[in-house]
Amino acid sequence: MCGIVGVVGNDNTTKILLNGLEKLEYRGYDSAGIYVNNEKGKDFLVKEVGKISQLEKEVGPEVQGEMGIGHTRWATHGQPTVENAHPHYSQDNRFYLVHNGVLTNYAELKEKYLSDFKFVSQTDTEVAVQLVDYFATKENMDAEAAFRKALSLLEGSYAFAMVDKEQPDRIFVAKNKSPLLIGLGDGFNVICSDAMAMLESTHKFVEIHDGEVVILKKDNVSITTLDGKAVQRDPYTVNLDASDISKGTYANYMLKEIDEQPATMRKISSHYFDGKDIKVDQKMLKDVSEADRLYIVAAGTSYNAALVGKDIFENLADVPVDVELASEFGYHMPKLSQKPFFIFLSQSGETADSRQVLVRVNELGYHSLTMTNVPNSTLSREATYTMELLAGPEIAVASTKAYTANIAVEAVLAKAMGEYKGVQLAKDFDLQGQLSLAANAIQTIVDEKDRFEKIAHDYLAGKKDAFYIGRGIDYALSLEASLKLKEISYIHAEGFAAGELKHGTISLIEKGVPVFAYVNDGIGAAHTRGNIQEVEARGGHVLVISSKKYAQEGDQVVLPSIDEMISPIVSVVPAQLIAYYAALERGNDVDKPRNLAKSVTVE
Ligand code: M6R
Repeated sequence: MCGIVGVVGNDNTTKILLNGLEKLEYRGYDSAGIYVNNEKGKDFLVKEVGKISQLEKEVGPEVQGEMGIGHTRWATHGQPTVENAHPHYSQDNRFYLVHNGVLTNYAELKEKYLSDFKFVSQTDTEVAVQLVDYFATKENMDAEAAFRKALSLLEGSYAFAMVDKEQPDRIFVAKNKSPLLIGLGDGFNVICSDAMAMLESTHKFVEIHDGEVVILKKDNVSITTLDGKAVQRDPYTVNLDASDISKGTYANYMLKEIDEQPATMRKISSHYFDGKDIKVDQKMLKDVSEADRLYIVAAGTSYNAALVGKDIFENLADVPVDVELASEFGYHMPKLSQKPFFIFLSQSGETADSRQVLVRVNELGYHSLTMTNVPNSTLSREATYTMELLAGPEIAVASTKAYTANIAVEAVLAKAMGEYKGVQLAKDFDLQGQLSLAANAIQTIVDEKDRFEKIAHDYLAGKKDAFYIGRGIDYALSLEASLKLKEISYIHAEGFAAGELKHGTISLIEKGVPVFAYVNDGIGAAHTRGNIQEVEARGGHVLVISSKKYAQEGDQVVLPSIDEMISPIVSVVPAQLIAYYAALERGNDVDKPRNLAKSVTVE
């Protein structure tokens, strides 16, 4: 969701900016732009609606310089138009600024300070750049003082990169809540919303914290707090290769990421186990095991993974668990238990909804753990502990391997807690063995892609609605299966507890409505069979996806059995493939579905 890049001190600025923006495409955007400034005193602003490839066509050979900023915009204030695209500029064309986030008090500031300024966009961002100009021109401040003054007034979330045409040797940078990193190049420096954007230029990055101001020059980076105190911070190395984020021979990222799931299961197993022993931070283990209740906070697919995790923690670690939607929980926090412990699930580690809960949790002095795929992400830095998902970069907006990895890592922690607490299990649970079974089972499913392509066509071609149903663990799974389908195929899809259908939803079932029924949950299996009958009796077009243990003759998809508690690691894969092929058949952009962003950095 909005991406920022910036370069200072490199002759290839235009190329680095465009390449960086391409790498940020996965975050979701609807327009893009760059501003480039060169030593001959020339500068260029190019903005375009649509893809980066469109922008590239507009960037002529003359657009060359040594410094610049770039942006992908995901519209919040004002439609996706060239005027609303970033960089925005002050009315005297002196300041150019890109922004990721939402300014909540822009209207008040506009009214108070900028009533005689000429605006060209509907964005909140333009207010920020005009405000800097206001303090520079009307109150005679230098650019840095004007920038700081504007920051002291602006409320909401932001990552800013600003250029002053009169000082083209530097970029002014600041952040509050939205992500932004400094990258240290050889003779030049960069900024980016995500390290992935700049891996071709550097692997050395420096964090920027909220409330800090950075002046980025080609040979110097100064970080200070808003009130001017110097900050020293060491760089860290990002151990990713530019090739880790390439599609390889795949037509798109989503299919590649679905296929990577067996490898991810094996990686989690070898990383978190030492022989038969689980390897996790012992301080964290003690801390989380002493909690009287776990609160798992997440959004979207991560929330769906948390629903699966609830069962796992309650069974293996004998601890009550509440699963909370981040966007709700922060503003409607229930009465907490005596000794709560918070677990944040977030593929990106940047989700603003989750972050606002973490900020509150930190204020209240509670301990927390972030399970994330992105080490050094905001949620990872700000939580007490981090566990990595180890799924490798997930680029497709629709999350696949991070979901299955999340469930596996939840199981690792739950198992470790159970052992630490001496929980007696009714039957042995060999997690290492289960992860290996899961890896093999996923492999057999992804090896049969043609089958799921045919199912997607037979059940979903021309359909407007679809349902996933199941009980227990299959209900949690149905929510994820239906989310996958709706986000990339744009078919209206819902996940329901199978037993709940008769309380209202069954009125939607008529001849030919596709209903995907999961039967992996032993306790609910017999009743789900009854619910399938009810749907079929009303003309629903049912596809049964069962595990071998509960399969009956006539079930269309029978999956290898693994322990029910973690079975969604396997049973979600048919749904991922069905969604993928349904979207492909409709000609949708599978990796970048409309209106969605990979990293949701606004609340
Ligand atoms: O990065 P996060 O896991 O915190 O993101 C949460 C959701 O925005 C994310 O899972 C979203 O629902 C995905 N597009 C689902 O495929």
